[in-house]
Formats: sequence, C-alpha cells, structure tokens
Amino acid sequence: MDFTSLSNSHRSIRQYKDTPISEELLNEILHAATRASSSGNIQPYSIIISRDKAEREKLWELHYQQDMILQAPVLLTFCVDWHRMIKWCKISDARPTWDNFLCYMVGAGDVFIAAQNAALAAENAGLGICYMGTTLNNAQKLSDFFECPRNVVPVTSMVIGYPDEDPDARDRLPMNAIIHHEKYHDYDDEQIIEHYKQKEEDGWNRYMSIPELKEKIDKSGVKNLAQVYTDVKYTKDENRMASRSLINLLDKQQFGNN
Ligand SMILES: Cc1cc2nc3c(=O)[nH]c(=O)nc-3n(C[C@H](O)[C@H](O)[C@H](O)COP(=O)(O)O)c2cc1C
Repeated sequence: MDFTSLSNSHRSIRQYKDTPISEELLNEILHAATRASSSGNIQPYSIIISRDKAEREKLWELHYQQDMILQAPVLLTFCVDWHRMIKWCKISDARPTWDNFLCYMVGAGDVFIAAQNAALAAENAGLGICYMGTTLNNAQKLSDFFECPRNVVPVTSMVIGYPDEDPDARDRLPMNAIIHHEKYHDYDDEQIIEHYKQKEEDGWNRYMSIPELKEKIDKSGVKNLAQVYTDVKYTKDENRMASRSLINLLDKQQFGNN
C-alpha cells in the first residue's frame, strides 16, 4: 500500500479472528519497530511479546478485561528500558546517567515511535491493531507481572491480529485546529466550538450507540461529549489515582530523580 492509503485506512480494530500470526510476519513487524528513529540511537526500550493464551488471560484482567486481548493472537508491551544500557555502561566502566525523569521521557518518546512503526508495518500486511492505554493506568501491576527489573517501565501495549470487523473511520479534529504557523495562536470560544463541532456530534452518537456506555451516560446525567470525557470516561479521581501510582512506580524503578 502507498503511504497515503495506508495512513488514511487506519482504524483501531477491537474484534479479531483467532488466525495466528506467523513468526516471520511478526519478526518483520518487530524489525520495523526497531528501525524507528531513536534518541541518541540508544534504543532505551524493550518489547515483550505475549502469545501464550494463559498469559494473555492474566493480562486481560490487568487491562481491565478488554476482550481483544483474548481474541488477538499477539499482544506487544512496549517498555522504557534503561536497564540494558546501564548494564553495558557498567561493564564498560562508564558511569550511567540515566536514572532520572528526563530519561524516562526520552524512553517513552522512543517507545511510541517504535510502536507506531510496528502498527504501520502490521496494517500494511493486512493486520489490525489497537493500542492499550490501560498499560499506563496499571503500569505497576504490569511491571510486576512481567518481572521488570529497575529502570524498566511498561508504557504502552498493542494487540495485533487479523481483523474480524471493518469499522468506519473515526472523526479527527480539522487540520486548522491542530496546526499553528510560526507561533502558537490561542483559540477564542467560537473557534473552539467550531473545531469540536464534528467530534461533538460523531462522538456523542457513537457513545450513545454502545449500550453499556449509553446506560452510564444516562445514569450520570451528563449533557455533552466533553462531560462524557470528564465525568464518565476519564474522571478526575481515576486520573489522579493512576498518576500517583505511575509516579510511585517511576520512583521505584529509579526514574524519580532521587
Ligand atoms: C496510546 C493509546 C491508547 C489507547 N488505548 C485504548 C484502549 O485501552 N482501548 C481501546 O479500545 N482503544 C484504545 N485506543 C484506541 C483509540 O481509542 C483510538 O485510536 C481512537 O478512538 C481513534 O480511533 P481510530 O484509531 O480507529 O482512528 C488507544 C489509542 C492510543 C493512541
């Protein structure tokens, strides 16, 4: 596929056939991930492959029971990993300088660039993918599950498999909502309303068409899409709890600047 068709045809896939992915194809996808740009070309990340069904069943729990983890034959977990580099520095008599928050952020940047390369390679081969934001929410438990040593922290995950659905493309903010020329140009209220008009309509209709979400929305009494985001999907308390847990994990894994 040419690149424009590839990027335009992206949809997150949440229903999968149980057709396995060959070792060869998975290696091509992983190779694409490792060819991504990397800060200092250090590649401070690791990718953990979960294929085993029993292991994926445990991971399903840790990802808040998202069923695609059970259906898709492969789950990849991308971790910031300075552990490997630190070992190399130590045996090379070089003093590691990587146990700080900056390096966590550098690693997290590399993680997402590599992950997106994997996503594009998978989609180019006719596979579907879906990222799992639940990795950040439950990073502490996932870190324990994968037995991550110090300086290794799970950042994102992705299911990969043969699609068993063909969803419509989802809305995006218009380009002029996102692009600024030369300086940041702040928005007035009218522009904000204009930029979010399509999302408001499409997002609201989509959520109201999902019975479990509709029930939650009706019960909560929220009136618009922004309120769905703040009061139903991503509440302040849940976000604060997940943030606290992540900060604690970063401290424990030596990224807390202590
Ligand atoms: C970092 C990240 C985390 C995500 N986590 C989840 C998730 O946990 N569950 C899910 O169903 N979709 C998840 N998604 C998919 C988004 O919901 C999806 O990309 C968005 O709704 C746009 O839809 P599209 O990818 O089909 O264009 C995630 C996407 C990203 C980039």
